[in-house]
Amino acid sequence: MSKLVTVILAAGQSTRMKSKRSKVLHNLAGQPVISYVVDIAKKGVKSEKVIVVVGPKQDDLRKYLKENHIAEAIQKQPLGTGNAVQASENKLKGFDGYVLVLCGDVPLLQAEVVSSFIKRVKSKNFTLGVLTMTPSDAGNYGRIVRDLDGEVIKIVEARDASEEELKIREVNSGILCFDAKWLFKSLKKLSNKNVKGEYYITDLVGIALKEGASVVAFNGEPAHDLLGINTRIDLARAYEIMRERINKKHMLGGVGLLDYRHINIDANVKIGADTSIMPYSFIRGDTRIGKDCIIENGVVIENAVIGDGVHIKAHSVIEDSKIADGAIVGPFSRVRPDSKVGKGARVGNFVELKKCDLKDGAKANHLSYLGDASIGSGVNIGCGTITCNYDGVSKYRTVIGDNVFVGSDTQFVAPVRIGKCATIGAGSTITKDVPADALALSRSDQKIIKNWSKKRKKKKSCS
Ligand code: UD1
Ligand code: MG
Repeated sequence: MSKLVTVILAAGQSTRMKSKRSKVLHNLAGQPVISYVVDIAKKGVKSEKVIVVVGPKQDDLRKYLKENHIAEAIQKQPLGTGNAVQASENKLKGFDGYVLVLCGDVPLLQAEVVSSFIKRVKSKNFTLGVLTMTPSDAGNYGRIVRDLDGEVIKIVEARDASEEELKIREVNSGILCFDAKWLFKSLKKLSNKNVKGEYYITDLVGIALKEGASVVAFNGEPAHDLLGINTRIDLARAYEIMRERINKKHMLGGVGLLDYRHINIDANVKIGADTSIMPYSFIRGDTRIGKDCIIENGVVIENAVIGDGVHIKAHSVIEDSKIADGAIVGPFSRVRPDSKVGKGARVGNFVELKKCDLKDGAKANHLSYLGDASIGSGVNIGCGTITCNYDGVSKYRTVIGDNVFVGSDTQFVAPVRIGKCATIGAGSTITKDVPADALALSRSDQKIIKNWSKKRKKKKSCS
């Protein structure tokens, strides 16, 4: 079997996106658009080399490629797709095999479609293969012109097409496969005498046929998989398709997503069977959710690890944190980064955790801020408790031992440590460490002034 390398084109100016960011770095279900194309090249069709063609000033894209160990080739000026492929020649010196050309802006591509395309090109040693599609609207795609026998004659770009040619519905997906030696020899023959003044890779079809080289055009339906992203509308359409794909995969794996059109799950998220997710939830990044969980509506979870049998109630936000088996969080809870909620622990409404380790079975059910804190197992945090962790300069920790009872409206002025089984009286401001089993109270004694209301009534009516 001949060898395969992939060249991904991404050096275009992306003017239609109207963005300062490279269009292939725009987010699609938690990943940059180009990452899906790179995955197809690396994992899907197992290319022995993957080269992305970029412009010299695309700093953001070049940084992304470097960080992800993806090779780049620089196209000095965006002179067209043919010129872009030529920019990869240096990196492929002496390579003998097939070059697959993909566009960095076609992220919905499926590995099976590309694999069977390559197989077909290789099977008869075609010099050039083009993957075509027949969308309902041929828009600005390059038209595939065939003769009366159905054999492809050329590709004509929409801008250069005659009225008759514009009526053709079969178009170029932008995915091509070439015999490497022929490709790099023939790229030099491209001309830029067209409306855009660019060197089109698509002109190689006509050139090959003139030379008597073999060309195949393979129709790779469904067309929406080959959707090219040029505008933000295209990106939104691609997201709709991607969301449906992701959600159907989870449903087939046993996850309940009854209203799946309104549930947003990033591509890398993993979810166990018999977990149910309700609408208007966003599950992002590298989140892992166990089995038998309930995620209610309006929940946002990002880069979190959620155990089994966890119940996240409506409108809670959880980031970069761990929630252990059987815990209950929400409604309206906020779990900020580096927090842990232990097994069977409970975090209730309007409770905010930050760098907080709430151990097994602990409860903070109402209206509290627990930041930079370690809270022992079985602790009960009363309503309105605050860890005062910041003195305007530095942050300090509050450490609460197992089975402590914290009365409502308590402030812990950190750094402070509370021994196990201690009790903190409601309304206390705790500034000193409390030994185990002690009762700590810091509120002032209650005064009783008898008949105070009656006396007041005489001065001012108070019905
Ligand atoms: C291209 C094809 C068209 C096809 C369509 C499919 C050509 C001439 N046209 O048109 O037949 O139907 O894709 O989506 O090939 N690029 C560079 N350097 C350049 C120009 C472009 O790297 O100088 C890259 C772009 O970043 C993009 C890809 O090549 O990833 C395609 O370029 P784009 O401008 O999007 O071409 P289309 O007009 O979509
Ligand atoms: Mg395009």
